[in-house]
Amino acid sequence: MAIEQLALENISKTFTQSTSQTTILRNVSYAFQTNLSYAIMGPSGVGKSTLLHIISGIEKPDNGHVKINNQIINYHNFEQRIAALHNNIGILFQQPSLINELNVLENVMLTALTHNKFEYEYQQRALELLKSINLEDKAYSSIYTLSGGQQQRIALLRAIFHRPSFLIADEPTGNLDKNSAHQIMDLLNLYQKQYAMGLIISTHDIEIAKRCNIILNIENQNLSATKNTDSGN
Ligand SMILES: Nc1ncnc2c1ncn2[C@@H]1O[C@H](COP(=O)(O)OP(=O)(O)OP(=O)(O)O)[C@@H](O)[C@H]1O
Ligand SMILES: [Mg+2]
Repeated sequence: MAIEQLALENISKTFTQSTSQTTILRNVSYAFQTNLSYAIMGPSGVGKSTLLHIISGIEKPDNGHVKINNQIINYHNFEQRIAALHNNIGILFQQPSLINELNVLENVMLTALTHNKFEYEYQQRALELLKSINLEDKAYSSIYTLSGGQQQRIALLRAIFHRPSFLIADEPTGNLDKNSAHQIMDLLNLYQKQYAMGLIISTHDIEIAKRCNIILNIENQNLSATKNTDSGN
């Protein structure tokens, strides 16, 4: 499969609150690839979430742009932006944020449901994904019957259901014990390879970061990259 790119070009971001200004990113350029995994690290408040919001099109940079496969994300055209993001990006947060009113299977196939796609093949795809994490017997259960770690794995299946080129995950293991955290990381690495996705996570946990191919530290409003030859991937 061809390697695709998500490129940041001269990205800057400053937050202004009353009289104070905080510059988070200054002229950051970096290209992420679909065949690699990346861990973004740095102390609390340094800008990890802000960077991920910019990468995933949720937040607009003050300067510079984000390009997916050479196409610039256009913040002024809502429909074009949503289409570009939907086709290319999957997002996972620290909280699973599943929809209580839907069962487990419907949560997995949410991106299909929101596009009015109810066909059998989508249900089958959701069931196959549930099988891959040994939760197919929960398909028609309420999400209240799942543990926190299981809910996060369902949120992960929902994020990759539409087979995005890039999966962006902001502290995906932040709320989990060590065991569940490594289970999520096992799955993230598995799907990264299986679907040839780029995986971009933020984490405070060096053991989790070490399981990615490249560690990116936010320092001095910029990214400094370290290649991790020992990721096991
Ligand atoms: N919408 C906003 N308006 C003003 N300031 C903001 C906004 N969003 C973030 N900030 C500020 O930007 C800085 C970076 O925040 P961010 O949430 O990106 O940090 P982080 O590295 O993800 O931290 P953590 O590890 O605690 O999650 C913080 O000082 C935060 O207060
Ligand atoms: Mg954060």
